[in-house]
Amino acid sequence: MALRLGDVAPDFTADSSVGEINFHEYLGDSWGILFSHPADYTPVCTTELGAASKLKEEFDKRNVKMLALSVDGADSHRSWIEDINETQNTTVNFPIIADEDKKVSELYDMIHPNSNESFTVRSVFIIGNDKKIKLIITYPASTGRNFVELLRVIDSLQLTANYSVATPADWKRGEDVVVAPAIKTEDIPSKFPKGFKEIKPYLRTTPQPDL
Ligand code: BEZ
Repeated sequence: MALRLGDVAPDFTADSSVGEINFHEYLGDSWGILFSHPADYTPVCTTELGAASKLKEEFDKRNVKMLALSVDGADSHRSWIEDINETQNTTVNFPIIADEDKKVSELYDMIHPNSNESFTVRSVFIIGNDKKIKLIITYPASTGRNFVELLRVIDSLQLTANYSVATPADWKRGEDVVVAPAIKTEDIPSKFPKGFKEIKPYLRTTPQPDL
């Protein structure tokens, strides 16, 4: 059955570019991002892994462990990483799962046979520190992902996990947020002492509460 938001991210043990990994042990108490690549030595994936590596410090700041996956073997991953480091001017600094038997890809429904029978699509799973799936995105093989956007989503997920707020369209860290509809307007001042604006009774904004 397809995975849905709120499900526990299925655990697995698999080989990777840095040896065997147990997913839940690897995550520990951290958040996680698991993202799949159609295959090694492909141009878009090469740029994506370069972009993701350059942002590792930003994922670390948010306590998010990175884990990539491709359906080739660990030796292939290690040789490909040398190419990625050379061509993208970076150092790949997180493991890539070697999913040759497609066990993990199938567990996470990363192969969409009507798109391609043997390659994974570009799936992204963001997993909370409670091991539950907070976000699922699927891109086709032909479109590289925007890892800065994924950091923006993580900022929203982590903020809204702790405060009764939601983030509006195109929100970025530091901008005003929306007060959750469940909060009565008369209760806002005690919960959000930085103040609020009532644009409509159902649309109330407040400065980002954790800054
Ligand atoms: C790529 O990563 O460049 C790619 C992989 C499969 C199909 C198209 C592009």
